[in-house]
Amino acid sequence: MAPNYVMIVALITFICFSLSFGDDAMLPTSHNNLIDKPKYCNKSCGNVNIPFPFGMTPDCALRNQFLVTCNYSFHPPQPFLGNSSIEITSISLSGQLKVLHFISRDCYRDGISTNRTKPYIVLPSLLTVDNTANSFIAVGCDTYAIVQGYYTKFGTEIEYLRYITGCMSMCYSIDEADDDTCSGVGCCKTSIPKGTSNVNITLSSYNNYNDTNMTNDPSCSYAFVVDQANFNFSKSYLSSLQNTKKLPLVLDWAVGEDKCEIAKRNSTAYACKSNNSYCHDDSNGYRCSCMQGYDGNPYLSCQDIDECIDRKPDYRCAKDAICQNTEGSYTCICPPDFSGNGTVCNRDNPQRITQNIYFVIGATAGVAFAIIIVFGWSYTAFQRRKMSKMKKKFFQENGGLVLQQRLTREEGSSHNNTIKIFTAEELEKATNGFDKDRVVGHGGFGTVYKGYLKDNCIVAIKNLR
Ligand SMILES: *[C@@H]1O[C@H](CO)[C@@H](O)[C@H](O)[C@H]1NC(C)=O
Ligand SMILES: *[C@@H]1O[C@H](CO)[C@@H](O)[C@H](O)[C@H]1NC(C)=O
Ligand SMILES: *[C@@H]1O[C@H](CO)[C@@H](O)[C@H](O)[C@H]1NC(C)=O
Ligand SMILES: *[C@@H]1O[C@H](CO)[C@@H](O)[C@H](O)[C@H]1NC(C)=O
Ligand SMILES: *[C@@H]1O[C@H](CO)[C@@H](O)[C@H](O)[C@H]1NC(C)=O
Ligand SMILES: *[C@@H]1O[C@H](CO)[C@@H](O)[C@H](O)[C@H]1NC(C)=O
Ligand SMILES: *[C@@H]1O[C@H](CO)[C@@H](O)[C@H](O)[C@H]1NC(C)=O
Ligand SMILES: *[C@@H]1O[C@H](CO)[C@@H](O)[C@H](O)[C@H]1NC(C)=O
Ligand SMILES: *[C@@H]1O[C@H](CO)[C@@H](O)[C@H](O)[C@H]1NC(C)=O
Ligand SMILES: *[C@@H]1O[C@H](CO)[C@@H](O)[C@H](O)[C@H]1NC(C)=O
Ligand SMILES: *[C@@H]1O[C@H](CO)[C@@H](O)[C@H](O)[C@H]1NC(C)=O
Repeated sequence: MAPNYVMIVALITFICFSLSFGDDAMLPTSHNNLIDKPKYCNKSCGNVNIPFPFGMTPDCALRNQFLVTCNYSFHPPQPFLGNSSIEITSISLSGQLKVLHFISRDCYRDGISTNRTKPYIVLPSLLTVDNTANSFIAVGCDTYAIVQGYYTKFGTEIEYLRYITGCMSMCYSIDEADDDTCSGVGCCKTSIPKGTSNVNITLSSYNNYNDTNMTNDPSCSYAFVVDQANFNFSKSYLSSLQNTKKLPLVLDWAVGEDKCEIAKRNSTAYACKSNNSYCHDDSNGYRCSCMQGYDGNPYLSCQDIDECIDRKPDYRCAKDAICQNTEGSYTCICPPDFSGNGTVCNRDNPQRITQNIYFVIGATAGVAFAIIIVFGWSYTAFQRRKMSKMKKKFFQENGGLVLQQRLTREEGSSHNNTIKIFTAEELEKATNGFDKDRVVGHGGFGTVYKGYLKDNCIVAIKNLR
C-alpha cells in the first residue's frame, strides 16, 4: 500500500510543479520596451508618437526627410513635417503617415473672386501621396479644378514625371446633389497617380458664379486631395467647408529609395538594423518589418512577443495546454494525464481519474481492514493469554502444582506410569466434547462423564463446576 501512496503524492507534486512552472512562463517580458536611439530623443510631440526613423532633431531622425518640427506654441504641441505646413496626426511604422493639409478655396462676390487659398504640397523624396487611400475632390456648382505636379516612376531607373488631371462640376443648385456620394452633381472626383510627390491645385469658375440660374450660396468652390475613409460628401458639406481649413490626407513613406536587394549591399546605410527584422520592397523603395513572433521597431530592435500573454486570434494552444514562450515563437504542451501535440490535447484515458479514485478508496479500505485484523488478532491473543493465566491459577488452586512436584520427584521410579496429567484438550476429546450422552452422573461438585482415552482405556472424568 505505502508505495502506491507515495506514487499518488508524487503525481500531485508533479502537477503542482507543472502549474507553477506555467505561471513562471507567464511572467511579463519587456517586449513593449522599445529601444529608441539616441536615448535623449523626444518620443512624442503633443499627442503624436514620433518613432524612429522619424525624429525632431537631425541626430534623432534617420534622414532629413524624416525630420519633424514640433511647434510648442500650440496646446497641445503640434508636429509638422519638416518646415512645411503639413500637420502630422499619426506615424505608422507600417509605412503610413496621416496628416492634415489645407484645402483650396475660391469664393466669389458679385462675380469677383475673393479669399482664394492656393495651398501647395511638395513632399520630400521617400514620401508620396497614397493613391489608393486618397482622391482628388472638387466641390461647387460652377467649378473646374485642375491638379498637377510630379510623380515618381520606379523602375530600373527612378523617373520624375509630370501629371495633369482634374474634374468639373456644374449644377443649377447644390440641392440637386446626391447625399453621401460624390456623384458629379455639386461634387466631382478623380484619382491621382501612384507615387505623387507634388500637388498644385488650380481652382476656377466658368461663369464666375455670375449665372443667375445657378444658385450657390455661398458662391464658393473647394478642391483637395483627401483620405476618402475620412471624407463623406453631403449637401450640407458645402456650407460646413467654409469653416474647414484642413482635411486629412494619407502619405506613404519608404526608408530608402532602393529595392531591398540593392539596399542590403551597403550594410552601413541599410536601415533594417534589428536582427529579427526583414526588408520588403514597397512601391517607392523599401521598408523594414519585424519577423513573425517579434514586435517593436525594426529600424532599432524587434523584441520577442510573449504569445502566451498576447493571445492573438491565431493562438493555437489547446484550452488545457500549457503555453511556453520561446524566442520568436511559443510551444504548447499538453498537461500530465493528457496526450497530443499541444494544439489538440486529449485525456490519456478517460477512466484513469475514476480509477485513481477507486484505487484510493480501495487502498483506504484495505488499510482499515488490516487495522481491524491486527486489532482483532491482538484482542484474541490477549483473551487467550488471560484464559491461560486463569487456567494456570485454577491448576495451582486445585493442587496441580503439588501433584506435578511429586510426579517430578518420583520420576524414574516404577510408579512412573500410574499418574498422568491430562490436558483440557485430551479430556475434551475423551468425552467427545463433554457430550450429554456420556454423562454418567451428577455429583455435588460437578458432572461425571464416561471417557475413552487414546489407548481405548475407559475413564471417568469429573468436570468441576
Ligand atoms: C523635448 O520635449 C520637451 C517638452 O516635453 C521640450 O521642452 C524640449 O525642447 C524637447 N526637446 C526637443 C529636442 O525637441
Ligand atoms: C508655430 O506656430 C505658430 C502659429 O501658427 C507660428 O507663428 C510659428 O512660426 C510656429 N513655429 C515654428 C517653430 O514653426
Ligand atoms: C527648415 O528651414 C531651415 C531654415 O530655412 C533650414 O535650415 C532647415 O534645413 C529646414 N529643415 C527642413 C527639414 O527642411
Ligand atoms: C455679372 O452679371 C451681370 C448681369 O447678369 C453683369 O451685369 C455683370 O457685369 C457680371 N459681372 C461680372 C464680373 O462678370
Ligand atoms: C473673405 O475673408 C474675410 C476675412 O477673412 C471675410 O470677412 C469674408 O467674409 C470672406 N469672404 C467670403 C466670400 O468668404
Ligand atoms: C501651379 O500650377 C500653376 C499652373 O500651371 C503654375 O502657374 C504655378 O506656378 C504652379 N505653382 C507652383 C508653386 O509650382
Ligand atoms: C437661365 O435659365 C433660363 C431658362 O431655363 C434661360 O432662358 C436663361 O438663358 C438662363 N440664363 C443664363 C444666364 O444661363
Ligand atoms: C462617413 O460615413 C460613415 C458611415 O456613413 C461614418 O462611419 C463615418 O464616420 C463618416 N466619416 C466622417 C468623416 O464623417
Ligand atoms: C554606404 O552608405 C553610406 C551612408 O549612406 C555612404 O556614405 C557610403 O558611401 C555607402 N557605401 C557604398 C559602398 O555605397
Ligand atoms: C545580431 O547578429 C550578429 C551576428 O549574427 C551578432 O553579432 C549581433 O550581436 C546580433 N545583434 C543583436 C542585437 O542581437
Ligand atoms: C495537432 O494535431 C491535430 C490533430 O491530430 C492536427 O489537426 C494539427 O494540425 C496538429 N498540429 C500541429 C502543430 O502539428
